[in-house]
Amino acid sequence: MKESQIKIKYNRLINELKKHNKLYFENSSPEISDKEYDEIKKEILNLEKKFTYLNSTFSPSNSLGFVPSKNFIKSSHRVKMLSLSNAFGINDLKNFEKKIFNYLSDKIKVEFSVEPKIDGISASLTYKDGVLVLGASRGDGFTGEVITENLKTIEDIPQKITNKDFPKDIDIRGEVFIKKNDFNKLKNDFANPRNAASGTLRQKNPDETKKIPLNFIAYTYGYFKNDKIKKQSEFLNSLQRWGFKTNEHNKVLNSIDDLENFHKKFEKDRFDLEYDVDGLVYKINSLELQKRLGFTANSPRWAIAHKFSADSAYSQITDISIQVGRTGALTPVARIKPVNIGGVVVSNATLHNEDEIIRKDIRLGDTVKVERAGDVIPHVVLVDLKKRGKNSKKFVFPKKCPCGFDTIKEFNKITKKFEAVRRCPDRGFQCEKIAVEKIKHFISKEALNIDGLGKKVVEKFWDLKLIRFPQDIFNLNYTQISKLDGWGDLSVSNLKYSIDESKKVSLDRFLYSIGIRHIGIENAKLLAEYTKTISNFLDFVKNKKFDEFLNIDGIGETQINSLKKFFENKSNYKIIEKLSSLLNITDLKLKKEGKLLNNTFMFTGKLLNMSRAEAKSLIEENSGSVVSSVNKKLKYLIIGEKPTNRKVQHAKELGIKILSQKEWLSLLD
Ligand code: IVH
Repeated sequence: MKESQIKIKYNRLINELKKHNKLYFENSSPEISDKEYDEIKKEILNLEKKFTYLNSTFSPSNSLGFVPSKNFIKSSHRVKMLSLSNAFGINDLKNFEKKIFNYLSDKIKVEFSVEPKIDGISASLTYKDGVLVLGASRGDGFTGEVITENLKTIEDIPQKITNKDFPKDIDIRGEVFIKKNDFNKLKNDFANPRNAASGTLRQKNPDETKKIPLNFIAYTYGYFKNDKIKKQSEFLNSLQRWGFKTNEHNKVLNSIDDLENFHKKFEKDRFDLEYDVDGLVYKINSLELQKRLGFTANSPRWAIAHKFSADSAYSQITDISIQVGRTGALTPVARIKPVNIGGVVVSNATLHNEDEIIRKDIRLGDTVKVERAGDVIPHVVLVDLKKRGKNSKKFVFPKKCPCGFDTIKEFNKITKKFEAVRRCPDRGFQCEKIAVEKIKHFISKEALNIDGLGKKVVEKFWDLKLIRFPQDIFNLNYTQISKLDGWGDLSVSNLKYSIDESKKVSLDRFLYSIGIRHIGIENAKLLAEYTKTISNFLDFVKNKKFDEFLNIDGIGETQINSLKKFFENKSNYKIIEKLSSLLNITDLKLKKEGKLLNNTFMFTGKLLNMSRAEAKSLIEENSGSVVSSVNKKLKYLIIGEKPTNRKVQHAKELGIKILSQKEWLSLLD
């Protein structure tokens, strides 16, 4: 992959993470499971490891979570609230231990404090002279929301502590959560116990919080001048003496093998617990070693969360149907006897593609293990062969699309393999299945964003033959629609309004909305930046100047071939021409704003808590630029620790403004 493509992939992942952070932290309604979320994070971190030029302020290696909601007063944590890196298996654990040994340059025997990881919301409680004076949420790790009054409604949280050995000034940290039983009573309001805890804790009115039984378990400290306690396990015991609840399953173990064995057992037993646990936390027990090991950007080197796998259940396949997606991909879906997986009734599970069916030898009538992670589509993991009937036959994947076209498997020039996915070759609107999906894409959020016209409505209008092509949306027969069941005057006028609103669309969104394979939102942006106007773009297409797009950093042969194939079909060109006359497609705006617009910066010396790469991207995100030498064009020289004197001197001579890191950051708020 080219550097530009890697960057695109990376940015896509960062954007995805941002979206899910918002859903999780701001809306309290995640769309994906923790496991899926962790996978996105892991992929980002892996990319950063492999390609060191990648960086983003929003990377999990920089920020710790999502900015807190605007509704609460904020408070800076005296010691930042960290997150934990994750382990998913024994190899990750061995790696964790290896890194510790490497860091300490010593293969010493270590003890681990093992603590169940309750799936709730972390909170920090500041006690001064034994009195609870401040309670805050984690927020972005640096700044949390002040939720003292809400936290005070929780019985497990002591408000006054009189023990002689209780530190004069300390932040106690732990997890706020709701028990499964209590959650059952709130099922209609929240998706899961974690959301219920988060939603309840962030009520503006503490009386509302009081109505829901929240619990608190303490497990660590933030600010704390400690000279007596030597081990995490001792600290946990002290917490108990001081009146906090700690987890009854906390224990100390001595080796990675012991951790793995305990994890295996606990993973099964966890269902009997009163609360949801999503893994185990292992911490090096010695506080002195913890101190020596310290932290990476946002997680301690001395601790890790060993996650449990997703929920699963066994059920029987009653049918296998084929779904056709927007790009023509045929996706087999297993219809299964309804089964409850982690509180959700599941009756469909994806089989991914033809190759997966062959690899797992999945057949009609098979009893299969179905895994469901959060809200993502459940999938078939394996077949229970012992339960297979004698007469069972291999599943024959259809070679024809439901529309009648012969399907194909494309050859991937890069991997030099045929794709696993079988596709309907139609690139126009001939295949009905693809056409409906294309229209759904056309109206979707990142495309024309017509919110009055959801996917279900598209299907309905399709069945009623009200739409066949995207342009039909702009010529709807509203009189006919107003006579349909469920369509009142108000909904019709809302629909009309949102369709009219969508007519003004920027070129990049428009190019994305057409649904050309391999032209996602990022590539559409690149094409729009290059062609600038829709008429230019149409000109490129008309004169078949696709190869010129190879000049664009980020556009490669895959995209060019896809564009060529798309426009080989004359009807596609006609559709776009038609749309361009119906819509107001605006040219892509060049960056005209940003706090640092038209400003050039240069660094000298080491920055605090920030790599050069991050600092550079921060400047660029705000429309500034970074240069590498002191000259008249330079506006600001930012000075870190141990700057190069010659550079500072030179800058002074040229009258260039000199900023400390703090002064520079204050330009950005
Ligand atoms: S220690 C550096 N201990 O897991 C220490 N965290 O990803 C970080 N959590 O935000 C916290 N149980 O909400 C710690 N026994 C435990 C925990 C625990 C649950 C949560 C906590 C934290 C997240 C870390």
